[in-house]
Amino acid sequence: MKILLLGKDGQVGWELQRSLAPLGELLALNSKSQDYCGDLANLQGLAQTVQAWAPDVIVNAAAYTAVDKAESEQAQAHRVNAVALEVLAQAAARSGALLVHYSTDYVFPGDGQTPWREEDVVGPLNVYGLSKLAGEQAIQASACSHLIFRTSWVYAARGNNFAKTMLRLAGERDTLGVIDDQFGAPTGAELIADVTAHAIVAWRAKPELGGLYHLAARGETTWCGYARYVLERAEQAGIELKVKAQAVSALTTDAYPTPARRPANSRLDTQKLEKAFGLQLPDWRLGVARMLTEIQGK
Ligand SMILES: NC(=O)c1ccc[n+]([C@@H]2O[C@H](COP(=O)([O-])OP(=O)(O)OC[C@H]3O[C@@H](n4cnc5c(N)ncnc54)[C@H](OP(=O)(O)O)[C@@H]3O)[C@@H](O)[C@H]2O)c1
Repeated sequence: MKILLLGKDGQVGWELQRSLAPLGELLALNSKSQDYCGDLANLQGLAQTVQAWAPDVIVNAAAYTAVDKAESEQAQAHRVNAVALEVLAQAAARSGALLVHYSTDYVFPGDGQTPWREEDVVGPLNVYGLSKLAGEQAIQASACSHLIFRTSWVYAARGNNFAKTMLRLAGERDTLGVIDDQFGAPTGAELIADVTAHAIVAWRAKPELGGLYHLAARGETTWCGYARYVLERAEQAGIELKVKAQAVSALTTDAYPTPARRPANSRLDTQKLEKAFGLQLPDWRLGVARMLTEIQGK
């Protein structure tokens, strides 16, 4: 099996390089790759890559992910998150390749408290969410075989992440306030990559598994709950912090204005994925604890 991976150096892309490697011949690209074009803003180059390399599976982990910046860079967000997906979907349809893509909880309006199901009515609150929704719709409107995974609150040990920021701030500052009225599940890039590899293998045996799925770790928290958990684990590991876990104060979204509006309810119902692929997604704390151990080098 020939697998083309786009966005190889992002959080999910990096882990996909590991999880997809045993499945076949992997061509992993980023926006600066030379031999083949991996730049999602270069629509012609992208189509040429698919035509020339003729993959059996295209996995797109590249995306315009700067949620706040997207409010002022609407055209670039739309090009990378939507138009490029239309191009990839058409190329996949022509060649018969499976297209694997990632979307977001931000396609939902964020009201209520019930976890969102795949068929629930969407209604993005910001430009990023709108562009990601347009990407999903372009894939679904094409005739290509596809797997779309909507995920949430992605983190990885590599690069910057929320947990590292909280650890740094709690070490430097005397007080720390974090938003406590947005609910979701932190989901590890490792988990997303492992589920992706599993799903590709399952789809090869049973192509009717193609479609849209919610993929997030089990359970729920808020950003404040997430921060407290991170600091608790750090305290248990003997790390000295100025702000203790229970001293993190709860903020409302209103108290922390950002250019892009964010949904309050980002809970995703993952039953469809678990049933279709015979999986049991782990609690969010499991992956976060692993990541913390990894970044602390213990
Ligand atoms: N992060 C989250 O919390 C979250 C939540 C829900 C869903 N998702 C979705 O999950 C998927 C993976 O996200 P992630 O967290 O791994 O994102 P990420 O770490 O921000 O990685 C995105 C990658 O896309 C690359 N990229 C940006 N513009 C590109 C272009 N024009 N051509 C080629 N590559 C380009 C970036 O490269 P540069 O850094 O060089 O620009 C980066 O390596 C995305 O579809 C995202 O929308 C993410």
